[in-house]
Amino acid sequence: MKATIVVLAGDGIGPEVTREGVRVLQIIGKKFGHEFHTINHLIGGAAIDATGSALPPETEAACKKADAILLGAVGGPKWSDPNAKVRSEQGLLAIRKALGLFANLRPVTLHPDLIDASTIKPDVLKGTDIMVVRELTGGIYFGEKTRTETSASDLCTYTVEEIERVTRVAGKLAQQRRKQLVSVDKANVLETSRLWRTTVERVMSSEFADVKLEHMLVDSAAMHLIRRPSSFDVMVTENMFGDILTDEASMLAGSLGLLPSASLGAGKLGLYEPIHGSAPDIAGQNKANPYATILSVAMLLRHSLGLEKEAQAIELAVSSSISAGIRTADIAASGRVSSTMEAGNFVVARLSE
Ligand code: IPM
Ligand code: MG
Repeated sequence: MKATIVVLAGDGIGPEVTREGVRVLQIIGKKFGHEFHTINHLIGGAAIDATGSALPPETEAACKKADAILLGAVGGPKWSDPNAKVRSEQGLLAIRKALGLFANLRPVTLHPDLIDASTIKPDVLKGTDIMVVRELTGGIYFGEKTRTETSASDLCTYTVEEIERVTRVAGKLAQQRRKQLVSVDKANVLETSRLWRTTVERVMSSEFADVKLEHMLVDSAAMHLIRRPSSFDVMVTENMFGDILTDEASMLAGSLGLLPSASLGAGKLGLYEPIHGSAPDIAGQNKANPYATILSVAMLLRHSLGLEKEAQAIELAVSSSISAGIRTADIAASGRVSSTMEAGNFVVARLSE
């Protein structure tokens, strides 16, 4: 197949990790006979420096025409002045919104060799395999914002339609997995959460009756994720709760540097990115963990291009790379630390065999 992939390297470690992701994409193309054409565009702080905008119109137009998008990370101290009009994160939020990417899939899986890289006890972790579906284009992230000298507000709004469509994504995933869905909200306090709960309940009982649904308050979910992570299958939640819970959940896998994500809309076009940030403290040092980005390439092949076999080949290569002890500083054991490039090289070599 032929496909055009827009690469948005972004800031900090973004360029280093996407470089490895693109190498993996190219080797997959060669091995399986596909033609992947990649084009680089600016987003985030890099785009602000070059054009004054965190999401230049050319970037948005290229993304709309692409088959899929691979993104590194945005942000850094240079663009994080809370009082600045233009901030690097705006680029990421704007592209999600512009492309209608309302469902963010964040799988949390555990490599057996990394059980000791987690801060959680091995017994508790065993069997953990969670798919978090985070609503990505609504809620408090996108509501009206106000600011005066002495007060500020962020409006949280959800429509029934926004809740229904993300629930359907989660329901379908649950049907393909262990048929259990936990919907996370704060229905004891928030009106949006009460609408969320009622809507999820209705969609699940009428369209996904074979899936067992449980509602959980977000504070309790945060606790149970650490207490009994292996009891979760699919989780669905609103934008901000999903942001927070997935950083927490990454600690089950051992590092933020291991978690990929897919942001999907109504069609095939998707944006794929590691859930970690730009890590300015280690940027440009060949230290960052590229596995989350490489695994995001696997999700890209699976969800936007329908290439399941190719996706699994990448997942297997990453897994065997970890088994072979190729571990960057965030997951290193016994003093042996691999670089970003070493990790990428190993995965590419495995795929070339
Ligand atoms: C994420 C990030 C972003 C978010 C930031 C960088 C705007 O934390 O993708 O989880 O909050 O969505
Ligand atoms: Mg986050």
